[in-house]
Amino acid sequence: MQFTLEKTDNQTSARAGEIITDHGKIPTPVFMPVGTVGSVKGIHVKDLEEEVKAHIILGNTYHLYLRPGLDVLKQAGGLHRFNGWNRPILTDSGGFQVFSLSDKRKLSHEGAEFRSHLDGSKHMFTPENVVDIQRVIGADIIMAFDECPPGDSDFKYAFQSMELTHKWLKRGIERFDSTDPVYDYSQTFFPIVQGGSFPELRRKSAEYIASFNREGNAIGGLAVGEPEEVMYEMVEVVNDILPEDKPRYLMGVGNPVNILEAISRGVDMFDCVMPTRNGRNGMLFTSRGIINIKNEKWKADFSPIDPDGHCSFDTLYSKSYLRHLFVSREMLGPQIASIHNLSFYLWLVTEARRQIQNDTFAAWKDGMVKQLARRL
Ligand code: GUN
Repeated sequence: MQFTLEKTDNQTSARAGEIITDHGKIPTPVFMPVGTVGSVKGIHVKDLEEEVKAHIILGNTYHLYLRPGLDVLKQAGGLHRFNGWNRPILTDSGGFQVFSLSDKRKLSHEGAEFRSHLDGSKHMFTPENVVDIQRVIGADIIMAFDECPPGDSDFKYAFQSMELTHKWLKRGIERFDSTDPVYDYSQTFFPIVQGGSFPELRRKSAEYIASFNREGNAIGGLAVGEPEEVMYEMVEVVNDILPEDKPRYLMGVGNPVNILEAISRGVDMFDCVMPTRNGRNGMLFTSRGIINIKNEKWKADFSPIDPDGHCSFDTLYSKSYLRHLFVSREMLGPQIASIHNLSFYLWLVTEARRQIQNDTFAAWKDGMVKQLARRL
């Protein structure tokens, strides 16, 4: 993997760059649609390429390991061959999902023991075996095994959790550096900064993570219940320390305003379930504000879903028709809404990139932030 930093904004810390992987190029800033079980819910890979214009998608180690399992993924020749997506894939390492999804998990220095949310079977994730698993899944970008403490954790808990994450990181890197890719393309490994809502812990963690000089770095443990201002402050503290010539990935963030605020603080990569999950519920993000398409107000509004939209469905269908699909519980409704939202997110980061390159990002961002939060 290679990263080129092309431009840093003259008024903010926003950056435009490009990541090159064996599965293709990723312009940054970038948003990565979430494909938890290997599919971005309800969306064909062709629509991901042509309508959403996604450059990279995310998969989850936890889910893919439990189902279809490593035997099937290996026989398929990896996730790209299995799901037909030929562009880059990043996998999250499983720690975050073990703590949010599985039953009866038990944490130790060794790793995390847990029961599957599918059938109650017992499993163990360690910093080493999540590297092996992500190698078999065939991710282009492999994430370190970490513990993500809740947003309201006290100092002691956040400190101990950070120390554990750092110990796990060392073991994960040793495993990654002593093993080879399973398929015929290269893979890279990103460590994750933790440290809760405490600037001094965040600084310590960022320094530790930076010392490994990996090809990219991630910021975890944010958007987990802390106030937004705290999240922005932690991003600033961490990005002051993380190397400038490596991409920075803010995990699990966020709404369109969060993404622009984080871009202006020097973040390059994002993922979030919001565009797909909220889309399935009828919430549409647009450059003029947020639409709840199930609202009575759209019943006979035959204007395009989004006249400024960036996928063909935005002008092919009307608000009235999309509302009808939702009210009738037709599966086409959530599909159109998910594609719309993802194409909007991809437009947002692509436009941010263009504005950074033109040195017009700061003013553009301030205008967008005011619009994005409106309820239409
Ligand atoms: N997704 C959102 N936040 C996190 C985090 O802190 N760690 C991991 N591994 N995944 C995340």
